[in-house]
Amino acid sequence: MSARKAISLVTAALALAFAAPSAIAADTPNPIADAKAFQKYFTTKFPKLKLEDFVNGPYSMNEDLYKQWQEKEQFPPYEFALEAGKEMFATPFKNGKTYGDCFPNKGIGIRQNYPYFDEKEGKVITLELALNRCREANGEPPVSYVKDEMASLTAYMAFTSRGKPFDIRIPDDPRALDAYQKGKEYFYTRRGQLNFSCATCHVQEPGERIRAEVLAPALGIMNALPIYRSEWSGMGTTSRRFVTCNSQTRAVPINPQDEEYRDLEYYLSYMSNGLPISGPGARP
Ligand code: HEC
Repeated sequence: MSARKAISLVTAALALAFAAPSAIAADTPNPIADAKAFQKYFTTKFPKLKLEDFVNGPYSMNEDLYKQWQEKEQFPPYEFALEAGKEMFATPFKNGKTYGDCFPNKGIGIRQNYPYFDEKEGKVITLELALNRCREANGEPPVSYVKDEMASLTAYMAFTSRGKPFDIRIPDDPRALDAYQKGKEYFYTRRGQLNFSCATCHVQEPGERIRAEVLAPALGIMNALPIYRSEWSGMGTTSRRFVTCNSQTRAVPINPQDEEYRDLEYYLSYMSNGLPISGPGARP
């Protein structure tokens, strides 16, 4: 190979590397342009998939897995959580109020609007946080963010939003843009003993196997949550997934619903705007 050819290959490789969405550009945050580039990156990498296919995580990446999943969907393992969530929603708290009273439209069909930026508080509010705040406002103790009740509640709420496109807004407020930008930075920052970022696995390597698992693409990665996983023998929430992924890189996980995780969820959900909610999901 001639030296010139070798150099042009290197240049091509570099151009490709930079075509991937990255946190390198330091100018003013531009979420609209970011989301466009993000979605384009994945649809170019997987030209056979339609945008809405990405919401099926690992199943969108592999035909054999896709078949297994379709069989599984006939007797979905998240069914019990869905039932439990529905019942919790229908059961009044001790003060007679219900979860529905804390949310727009009684909590039905609104999952696609979470997380949102609360301009009064100046922070990102996720669905999980809003649910625990609802409990506390009604004199009930908060529940664990990672499983059981929280997974059941969010499973039911996701189910009532199935098919509705993510509609995450960034209001015209510098604090909202800042939260978005922090979430983005968290996503691309390498950490832990393995020095991996979220993007290392879910942007650079979707479809590849890590041990027995096929890596989900970052596009649509929030749409199926919460999920049932055989490895967990049960359901897990967004919080559980974030904490688990962080410990996979041998990084010290932060606490569920810490501001960094909320900003991260805000960024990732915004990247999937327009893609339908598919939760709750089931994974091998
Ligand atoms: C070492 C590789 C690795 C890193 C780094 C990593 N993850 Fe994951 N992630 C996985 C694996 C493996 C799974 C389970 C298989 C799958 O669904 O991708 C997963 C699953 C997920 C899922 C559920 C996807 C689904 O459809 O089931 C989410 C959401 C997620 N990761 C978010 C993150 C976030 C946010 C970060 C950064 C804090 C991160 N991951 C870092 C390996 C990684």
